[in-house]
Amino acid sequence: MHNSSTLVVPEASSIPRHVAVIMDGNGRWAKRRHLPRFAGHQRGVEAVRAAVKCCVDRGIGYLTLFAFSSENWRRPAEEVALLMELFTGALTKEVAKMHRNGVRLRVIGDLRRFDSRIQSLITEAERLTEANTTLTVTIAANYGGRWDMLQALARLVKDNPERASGEFTEADLAPYLSMSYAPEPDLFIRTGGEHRISNFLLWQLAYTELYFTDALWPDFGAECLDEAIAWYAGRERRFGRTSEQLESGKRASSGAGDVASPGAPRRTRANA
Ligand code: IPE
Ligand code: IPE
Ligand code: MG
Repeated sequence: MHNSSTLVVPEASSIPRHVAVIMDGNGRWAKRRHLPRFAGHQRGVEAVRAAVKCCVDRGIGYLTLFAFSSENWRRPAEEVALLMELFTGALTKEVAKMHRNGVRLRVIGDLRRFDSRIQSLITEAERLTEANTTLTVTIAANYGGRWDMLQALARLVKDNPERASGEFTEADLAPYLSMSYAPEPDLFIRTGGEHRISNFLLWQLAYTELYFTDALWPDFGAECLDEAIAWYAGRERRFGRTSEQLESGKRASSGAGDVASPGAPRRTRANA
């Protein structure tokens, strides 16, 4: 189990351990080129491939991608059908390569709404890759943050019929959430220019650094990810504390005999 950011302050790191992405802008990418929306989604799959490789190369442990929200069923039936075809295609064609590269694949969301072929491809892919440790790629499909919290609460209550609801703690609920196998995201990225969460990981984003870019998902390559990571490295993550507390913590932990290297970046504030 990973610690919750509201119970224990996570360790600082300049490379995020977990990156969560809302891959938005496929439709607009296609529209700008006078192509059907589907062409944008196809290019979106290529961008996923690039992002996975980039995370492996950068030593990121977890990459979570919002592929289809619980509200995306509201789209025209034809677009939904095409997205399902793409999902099926990716599950058949990409998994073997991911497995070779040490990627563990997980899919979160209410999977009962998918047809049985997709459901069994997901089960197979998860089983094949479950022991891999290089990078965990999670695809959120028919996922909604509210659904996640409700399903977790329902299972928690069912498993503990003897307990009053007022007795439950955060730590009791956490193991029932869909992403209990991963640390909370350090960095959230949304492409496509919108500044919203769209019912993605509501619980887990409590202390995540939020990065928004106008780049459309099919254009989001390794340089864009590096830019987001560099932005993340410059954040001061306080988790409720003050800047002064962070600075004095650093001084205390650097040890009396330590000599700071002159070129090392310092996070003291000029006006402090
Ligand atoms: C994101 O791109 C992909 C999915 C939601 C499946 P969009 O299809 O939302 O692209 P825009 O927002 O219309 O440009
Ligand atoms: C969010 O994108 C969901 C995914 C990327 C899968 P949307 O394009 O569906 O979000 P809204 O409707 O603009 O909020
Ligand atoms: Mg969109």
